[in-house]
Amino acid sequence: MNMKSFDTNGDFSQNYKFLIGAILPRPIATVSTINLDGSNNLAPFSFFNGVCPKPMIVAFSPVIRTSTGQKKDTLINIEREKEFVINFTTEEIAQKINNASAELPYGEDEFSYANLTPIDSEKVKAKRVLESPIHFECKLRDLISYGDAPGAGSLVTGEVVKIHVREDLLDNGRILTDIYNPIGRGAGNDWIKCSERVQYERQMKAQIQN
Ligand SMILES: Cc1cc2nc3c(=O)[nH]c(=O)nc-3n(C[C@H](O)[C@H](O)[C@H](O)COP(=O)(O)O)c2cc1C
Repeated sequence: MNMKSFDTNGDFSQNYKFLIGAILPRPIATVSTINLDGSNNLAPFSFFNGVCPKPMIVAFSPVIRTSTGQKKDTLINIEREKEFVINFTTEEIAQKINNASAELPYGEDEFSYANLTPIDSEKVKAKRVLESPIHFECKLRDLISYGDAPGAGSLVTGEVVKIHVREDLLDNGRILTDIYNPIGRGAGNDWIKCSERVQYERQMKAQIQN
């Protein structure tokens, strides 16, 4: 089969299409932060993943807002407050989380815009999303900027300092995927359900044996 090959030094939108079309499915971190005036900010990020378990590090990437060429509010808040919460995204709340991605003016609360309920965290000021069944409270570890132009972005890593998991999701310390019912992000307007899965036996020594 012939393959087409592309350089990456053209317009950023072509690279973007390959990132979102190839990296599938992507988990969705719904990140809550505190605005300068103490109000809440909330936005989903699917350029997101775990990095390592101890220290427990997660990473996500806010890109420069293409409509304005400005940093996203989430990044502005994390630069100042050095902390944030990752709220995990389920099928049940997917549409509300999608609404939370609206580009509201700085200082306007996406919790109320998306009809989601803020609850206090234990170790950070940013609120948690009640309707999300898993919350990671995070302290900023690294902030790497790859530029200020549209198409550029940053890598934010955070150390998870507190984990909250809804009790019914837990079975002997493991999270039950079927009860959790996460949803992932695809290309374009696609979201990807996790209800259909396959199992393959591990071919290496499992990192966690039981
Ligand atoms: C499911 C989903 C995933 C998203 N992933 C990202 C992402 O990884 N990086 C990013 O910069 N924007 C992403 N966005 C767009 C942001 O959520 C959007 O720009 C939002 O307005 C940013 O809010 P803020 O300015 O309050 O930070 C995503 C949107 C949706 C709906």
